[in-house]
Amino acid sequence: MSHAVLNGVLLLLMLLTGSEGSWEQWWTYSGISGPQFWGLLNMNWNMCDKGRRQSPINIEPNKLVYDPHLRHVHVDKHRIDGYLYNKGQSVIFRVDPAMTTHVNITGGPLVYKYRFEELYVHFGEHDNVGSEHQINGNAFPAELQLYGFNADLYPNMSEAQQNSNGIVGVSVMIQIGQSGNDEFRILSSGFNKIVYRGDRSAVKHISLAGLLPLTQHYMTYDGSTTHPGCWETTTWLLMNKPIYITKQELLALRQLYQGDRTLPKTKMANNFRPVKALHHRTVRTNIDFTTDNRQKDCPSMHREMFYAARKWKL
Ligand SMILES: *[C@@H]1O[C@H](CO)[C@@H](O)[C@H](O)[C@H]1NC(C)=O
Ligand SMILES: *[C@@H]1O[C@H](CO)[C@@H](O)[C@H](O)[C@H]1NC(C)=O
Repeated sequence: MSHAVLNGVLLLLMLLTGSEGSWEQWWTYSGISGPQFWGLLNMNWNMCDKGRRQSPINIEPNKLVYDPHLRHVHVDKHRIDGYLYNKGQSVIFRVDPAMTTHVNITGGPLVYKYRFEELYVHFGEHDNVGSEHQINGNAFPAELQLYGFNADLYPNMSEAQQNSNGIVGVSVMIQIGQSGNDEFRILSSGFNKIVYRGDRSAVKHISLAGLLPLTQHYMTYDGSTTHPGCWETTTWLLMNKPIYITKQELLALRQLYQGDRTLPKTKMANNFRPVKALHHRTVRTNIDFTTDNRQKDCPSMHREMFYAARKWKL
């Protein structure tokens, strides 16, 4: 479909469905405004279509490259306030702009200081889909993504995303467990207040560091934001363990709608972009899979590689 024809069809759809607001906001995870068409919806989003360093990707454990120079990653632990939003496409937590102490993300592969800006929750309607990144071809029921921008070089996210080394994305896989995660509970207690697009709920005293699993092991690669405009300025860190949330919390996510109160339309679930080709990129890790079994010539990740060691049958 040509750009002009597609835009014509979309405009018609917007009129028919009564979608208001700017057209740049009008993208979805399926159909004619879905991921295959993001690059055509807006001139500034052509990387969604043409980019070759796109995210998410499938991580193949046996192709990881151990990099001894990768350091520990650090996320500031102090508590912050913000808002949880239903943006139609996703659940987003944004830090209150009035906060004067920023949460910085540093270390790992990062050579600059990144300032946390927003967190996305991707989730599926069934337990076997939901995450954007995959491990060995397996998806998780959900994925948290913490995005920050390079505060050493740029004044804000919109400026940073268009420039080199602009963004960091920290990915945490979500698995279903009995007891859940204390910090995630602070978010999930607001899910029933953001059922429709445009809803907003205040979040108080959350520690983002508490949303990370207890591991210093991660995988890292150069990719893009997984939402439009698919900016290829993103350094990704994928933590090597999931966090656990309860079945009830996942069910609460599945109650959210893409539309507003007057026209809820379909549920938000399945808001993940399909995995993109690696195109010769290297995925590095700080998991030293040689030291554990003392067989330097015969690396085996089975002890250290959490995701590989457990066969995820979902
Ligand atoms: C984060 O970095 C900024 C400087 O960019 C600094 O002012 C602030 O104190 C740092 N936050 C913490 C919690 O250390
Ligand atoms: C981001 O910073 C640029 C450059 O200072 C400015 O022009 C722009 O308005 C800012 N954008 C937002 C959303 O604050």
